[in-house]
Amino acid sequence: MPAMRAMVIAQPGSRFRVEERAVPEPARHEVRIRVHACGVCHSDSMVVQGHMPGLVYPRVPGHEVIGTIEAIGADIDGWQVGTRVGVGWHSGACGHCGRCRHGNSFACENVQGATGITRDGGYATHMLARASALARVPEDMDPVESAPLLCAGITTFNALRHCGARPGDLVAVHGVGGLGHLAIQFAARQGLRTVAVNRGRDKEQLARSLGAQDYIDSERSDPAAALQALGGATAIIATVTSAEAMQAIVGGLAVNGTMMVIGAVGALTVNSLELLGKRAAVKGWYSGTAVDSEDTLLFSQRNRVVATNEIYPLEQAQTAYERMMSGKARFRVVLKVE
Ligand SMILES: NC(=O)c1ccc[n+]([C@@H]2O[C@H](COP(=O)([O-])OP(=O)(O)OC[C@H]3O[C@@H](n4cnc5c(N)ncnc54)[C@H](OP(=O)(O)O)[C@@H]3O)[C@@H](O)[C@H]2O)c1
Ligand SMILES: [Zn+2]
Repeated sequence: MPAMRAMVIAQPGSRFRVEERAVPEPARHEVRIRVHACGVCHSDSMVVQGHMPGLVYPRVPGHEVIGTIEAIGADIDGWQVGTRVGVGWHSGACGHCGRCRHGNSFACENVQGATGITRDGGYATHMLARASALARVPEDMDPVESAPLLCAGITTFNALRHCGARPGDLVAVHGVGGLGHLAIQFAARQGLRTVAVNRGRDKEQLARSLGAQDYIDSERSDPAAALQALGGATAIIATVTSAEAMQAIVGGLAVNGTMMVIGAVGALTVNSLELLGKRAAVKGWYSGTAVDSEDTLLFSQRNRVVATNEIYPLEQAQTAYERMMSGKARFRVVLKVE
């Protein structure tokens, strides 16, 4: 029986181990993908460290996947063997099924599981995906370069196009990491007045070279006051991994401004006066649908938005993961599979 390799987390807190498995056959609504590359996202820590309740192990993480369809299930329409595809997180809840209505959107009945979280993902040579999770990837996009667009990219691209800011408006990208370095490029290419905010000045030059017109060092000055000095932000794209840092910048919103909370930081405390006096909002945002992924890929290709990546072979998933978690990667870590 043909074999595949997968980098597996056996239980919360364990290290990656390589496993040989039989290549799986797709069910009726699934395709099998030969994986070419998979990005390593901070959200993979939910599986590796077991931060999300109710997860089932062993699990293969990975939700920034680019590969080629290798086999298709009996009821698949519109997809062919040989087509280049991408798979992202794909767990946007429908909002109206029984589970969503009762507050458990992570168990939505209409999404068939989050890639690499509740079903096996792309830290592997092969994976299965529901057809509804597939995004078409232009053949001339390099799989390793573009894999981060399937989560870091779509999340920030989509947050920006739903944040209410229009060309010329001031938007702050808070955090210059894997997500933030793409958010700066998307914001600048969408004609927004883009301000990057990060601690220290290490990443200032880079943020400016990506398109930021201003830079705020959140250690040297109060980031909320610094944004107000620039006129207030129509939107803050909050990608930092610290609740304290997010709390410290909410006051930088303009009247009717919105902070898009992307970083998974747990409890967040916001001063109500900073919101009601300005009709400002703090809103959570998850990545998006397969169609949003296609929009992100095409926008990136046409407008030359590129991720800066550090590349590791699949078998070095542990090292790659630790590098991503160290916060030192510039900027996205990607597993090159084949
Ligand atoms: N909502 C979604 O759909 C979605 C999708 C993908 C990822 N995420 C989440 O988004 C977050 C960012 O992911 P990423 O891959 O971009 O992470 P990353 O590359 O590690 O970047 C983290 C950023 O947060 C900053 N930061 C960390 N600790 C800080 C602190 N104590 N004070 C101020 N700034 C701090 C870092 O600043 P330095 O440069 O100074 O270290 C860096 O700019 C994660 O929580 C991830 O789980 C959410
Ligand atoms: Zn992700």
